[in-house]
Amino acid sequence: MAQVILIESNKTMNDLLSINLTTYLGVDLIHRKNAQEALNLLAILPSIDLIITNTQVEGEDSANLINSYLIENNLEISLIVLGGKLAQSTDHSVTIQNDKDWEKVISTSAKILGINEEVLAKKAIPDYVQVPARYFLNLESCNCDVFIRIKKSATEFQYVKRIHNGDQFSKDSIMRYMDQGLEFFHVPKEHHKNFAIFLSNKLVDKIDSPLLNETQKIQIMGESYDIATKEIMNYGFNSETIQLTDTIIDNMVKNFEKSPEMSNLLHKVINSKTGTAYQRSHMTSVVACEVIKNLKLPDPLANEKMAFAAFFHDIMLNDRDDLSKINSFEELEKSQLSEEDWDLVFNHANLASQLIKNHNEAPVGTDEIIRHHHGAFNGKGFSNAIEKLPDLSKVFIIAHHFVLELIKFKENGGEPKPVTEELFKRYPSADAAIIIKALERTLKKKK
Ligand SMILES: [Fe+2]
Ligand SMILES: [Fe+2]
Repeated sequence: MAQVILIESNKTMNDLLSINLTTYLGVDLIHRKNAQEALNLLAILPSIDLIITNTQVEGEDSANLINSYLIENNLEISLIVLGGKLAQSTDHSVTIQNDKDWEKVISTSAKILGINEEVLAKKAIPDYVQVPARYFLNLESCNCDVFIRIKKSATEFQYVKRIHNGDQFSKDSIMRYMDQGLEFFHVPKEHHKNFAIFLSNKLVDKIDSPLLNETQKIQIMGESYDIATKEIMNYGFNSETIQLTDTIIDNMVKNFEKSPEMSNLLHKVINSKTGTAYQRSHMTSVVACEVIKNLKLPDPLANEKMAFAAFFHDIMLNDRDDLSKINSFEELEKSQLSEEDWDLVFNHANLASQLIKNHNEAPVGTDEIIRHHHGAFNGKGFSNAIEKLPDLSKVFIIAHHFVLELIKFKENGGEPKPVTEELFKRYPSADAAIIIKALERTLKKKK
C-alpha cells in the first residue's frame, strides 16, 4: 500500500482529498499540519511514496522546505505542490496551479503511484454528498435530484435516482427507506449547498409554525440543531445558517419563558428523540435561565446570552459525543485520546468563542461565556477556581455541569445522588455556593 503524506490546511479540500485518496487510490494516508511535522516524520520514515502539500501553511514556506530536504537527502519521493511554484523543480515534483482542483490532485497522484487510469475511471470519483435520510422527514419535496447508493462490488458503488427535483413525496415513503436500514440519501455535490439552504428555510418555517405542540417543536428543533451545527462547521456562517440558529435560539428562550415548570421542560427534552448534543445545549440553556431568574440577575439579555452560549459552546466537538462529556482535566487524561483529539478538547472552548465572534447577531459577551465554560479564563483546559469569572459565566458553568450529570445519569442509570453536593465540592467558593443554592431552590420548587 502506497504511503502518502498530506498537508492541506483548508478543511473542505482536506476532506475531499482524504476520502478520494483512501477510497479510490487505496493509499495509506498520513496527515501532517505543516512541513516541519512532515520532515520530523520523514526523518524516521523515509519510505514515503508521495507528499502532497500547500505551497505555504500559516506563513511557513512548506513546499520549498520539503523540496530542499528531499534534494539534500537524495530522497526520490514525489512531491505535489498545490498552488504557487517551487524555487527549484525536480523530476519528482509536480505543481498544480489551481489549489482547489482536487480532481487533478487525485488523477496526478494516481499517475505518480502507478495506478491505472482505467481502474480509476471505473471507480468514478464520488460526486455525491451523503445526507442523513431523516432530514427528508421534514420535507415534502426537494430542490434537487436525490439518489441512493448501491454497492456493486467490494469497492464500487452505483447511484440510483429515487426522488426527482420538484417531486412531492410522503413522510411514509421516507420511513419505508429508513425501516429497510437506509441511513443516507445522496445529493449531487454541486447541488448540496442549495439543498442545505432549501432545507434550512423549510425548518425555520416549521419551527415557527403555531400548529406544533411542545414535543413536536422540541423534535424539530433538535433536528434543526444538528443540521445547523453541521452546516456551520462545513461552510461557516451564511444568511441561512444564521437564520436557522437564531430561530432555534429564539425558540429555546420563548419555550423557557412559556414553560411554568423547569423539570417538566427538561423531562420533555431529555426524553425526546433528539441527539445528545442538542439535549445538552437546550437543557443547559433552560437550567441557566432558571437560575438567573431565581437570582434576579439584572442583565436584560441574560436569557439570550445563555441560549446562544448553550447552542455554540461545544460546536468544535460537533459529532463527537465522547469528547463533549469530558468535564475535567482528570477525565481528559483518563480518556486516552489521540494527540489531535486531546488538543481539540483542550482548546475547544477558546476556539468556539473565536468562532462566535463571526456571528453578528450574538449578544455581546456571549463569546466570554463560551470561553469560560470549563472554568479556564483563556478557554484552554479546565479549572475549578471559577470565583474570578463574571456571574453569567459562573451560572453557565454550573448549569452545564448539572446537565452533564443529568445526562450521565440517564445513560448509565444507578443510584440517584444529589448532583448539587458534587457541585459544592467541585466549586468551593462562596459565589459559586450562592448559584448552586439557587439551582437547588429551583429544583425543589418544581417537584
Ligand atoms: Fe458541553
Ligand atoms: Fe465543552
